Amino acid sequence: MEICRTVARLKDAVASRRGMGTVGFVPTMGALHAGHASLVERCRAENVTVVVSVFVNPTQFNDKNDLKNYPRTEEADIALLESAGCDIVFIPSVDEVYPEPDTRQFDFGAIGAVMEGAHRPGHFNGVAQVVSRLFSFVEPDKAYFGEKDFQQIAIIKSMCRQISSPVEIVECPIKREKDGLAMSSRNTLLDAERREAAPVIHMTLAASVARREWADVEETKKWVKEQIDSNELMKVEYYDIVDAVTMQSIDSWDHDGAVYGCIAVQVGSVRLIDNIRYK
Ligand code: PAF
Repeated sequence: MEICRTVARLKDAVASRRGMGTVGFVPTMGALHAGHASLVERCRAENVTVVVSVFVNPTQFNDKNDLKNYPRTEEADIALLESAGCDIVFIPSVDEVYPEPDTRQFDFGAIGAVMEGAHRPGHFNGVAQVVSRLFSFVEPDKAYFGEKDFQQIAIIKSMCRQISSPVEIVECPIKREKDGLAMSSRNTLLDAERREAAPVIHMTLAASVARREWADVEETKKWVKEQIDSNELMKVEYYDIVDAVTMQSIDSWDHDGAVYGCIAVQVGSVRLIDNIRYK
């Protein structure tokens, strides 16, 4: 596995392999876990060259403390990537990715105005900035993203349309711990008590799917919030049941198209997100 810390070295490393076949790319912010490993393994199975980036992108953090506290585990990340079959890892500095400030403002319309977009101002603009830059460095054929960040995938697809990027976006299922908690780098920040309580998020979402038989959409949203908020260690920031493409709230289970429930929960000082498919 080649470790590249500059854009020039990354471009050389990718160029020397491009003629061999497709290039797959997994962008990450490090603190890698089995969820990331599954993205890399899928990328490995579907491409000749596997590139992974490890970069904690400052422009997508709307909260300075969140950026400061974000876990950084470079040595362990490199070991995980070696064993998951990565060919090239890109670990740049902030100046390497942003030699000048990125002043671009993306407009995602209604998709970007709700849920994460409403609660984390500027977050999706920062995601689009960094992912578009990483795409321009790597020029992958395919890029792999986990469905835990469900709305982020819609944002990245929109970004690709806006900049006419040919990269194929591959959506990969959420990986969960044995107790159901969605794998996330942020889970390591939970203290023991909160880590033990956190699986209630997925348990509640999973239980809410059956309620579709007798409860309407509004009642289901209310029930999910009440269940989770009844645990004194947690506070639901939002829970919405949305169309899987437009990200807009639906008001009836008869809605045409796929429907997901998306949640953000503050668990002590740690903010967790998760989602579930209703239909
Ligand atoms: O999902 C993430 O880890 C980040 O938002 C991403 C896509 C790597 C961009 O920094």
